[in-house]
Amino acid sequence: MKFNVLTLFPEMIEQGINTSITGRAIKEGYISLNAVNIRDYTNEKHGHVDDYPYGGGAGMVMQAQPVYDAYKSIVGEDELKKEKEMRKRVVFLTPAGKTFNQRMAEEFAKEEEITFLCGHYEGIDERVLELIVTDNVSIGDYVLTGGELPAMVMMDAISRLVPGVLGNGDSSVDESFNAVNNMLEYPQYTRPEEFMGMKVPEVLLSGHHKNIENWRREQSLERTRERRPDLLD
Ligand code: 6GU
Repeated sequence: MKFNVLTLFPEMIEQGINTSITGRAIKEGYISLNAVNIRDYTNEKHGHVDDYPYGGGAGMVMQAQPVYDAYKSIVGEDELKKEKEMRKRVVFLTPAGKTFNQRMAEEFAKEEEITFLCGHYEGIDERVLELIVTDNVSIGDYVLTGGELPAMVMMDAISRLVPGVLGNGDSSVDESFNAVNNMLEYPQYTRPEEFMGMKVPEVLLSGHHKNIENWRREQSLERTRERRPDLLD
């Protein structure tokens, strides 16, 4: 899986993704990251990439030209001659997008290359979005200062679904249990058997696999009822 990120803060993306499991996945060649600084493509001598909004209003708007040229630098001119439906996906991170979820992560994980476009200020000139963006995605109903964290959230969720990225094959089975059955994860325990007077549930020490499985399913259901009743509707 190849990730391109168009951003004003490439170091933020690199530092985030080159850490932990995604960092290992890059070293081992399962995923790759190409963070492109939009500012490197400005034609203005002062390096500006934003300007005042036509029609007035608060804040600044990112200009179309540097975004367009940064995009062209990664995909090449030929990609733009194709119908948008035939092109590799370009995801614009915006609170005005479709809300990201596990099902979308699974869809995106099937792609071989994805480009993320991170906006800042009050937005990006609509014309370049019209030209290059295939998907508008939000990560939830709250407002962030830019698209970098959402892009990292998406890359993390997608990467762990790429074969080989998670060391332990079982993880994806448990994970799909949750995604498919719409249930929250059951509680986990490790050594010691007693901590601050609190004991590990007896059934987990029993070695009785059927009972353990049943107990975990009950715990998942109880927890889902308590924390996310909307998932059970
Ligand atoms: Cl994708 N961008 C911004 N700026 N804020 C958000 C978001 C995206 N998703 C939720 N909040």
